[in-house]
Amino acid sequence: MTGLTWNRIKHDVKVDKMNEQHKLLFNILDSLYKVMENKDDRNALVKIINDLITYSKQHLTTEEALLEKYDYPELAEQKEQHKLFIAKIEEFKEDFRKNHFMLHFNMAIFLKTWISNHIEVLDKKYSQFLNDRGVF
Ligand SMILES: [Fe+2]
Ligand SMILES: [Fe+2]
Repeated sequence: MTGLTWNRIKHDVKVDKMNEQHKLLFNILDSLYKVMENKDDRNALVKIINDLITYSKQHLTTEEALLEKYDYPELAEQKEQHKLFIAKIEEFKEDFRKNHFMLHFNMAIFLKTWISNHIEVLDKKYSQFLNDRGVF
């Protein structure tokens, strides 16, 4: 499995703060690939899961607040997907406790899918809406 790099054509949502935060997710995914090369590194993996939880709370809250501020019409769908994302990450924490042997792999697949289904599709939909309201 190969890593993923943030790229302007695919991932730019045209709002600086959101791009900055999205890039952190790419960094987390990158650290995960590094840990995958050494499957017994439980300390590194728990750090990644904790970083992912911190990241999610910060980013999803900031994004929702921004969309709420401008009355974004698709906020409900964003919130729904964000909720599922958090639930899945909480599940990873549980899988870690149970020493799930496929955890690294499952997490990497999940994060890559999230980037292509959520960031590249749903998040990119708010670019024009926010830019029209002077948010860049
Ligand atoms: Fe989002
Ligand atoms: Fe986002």
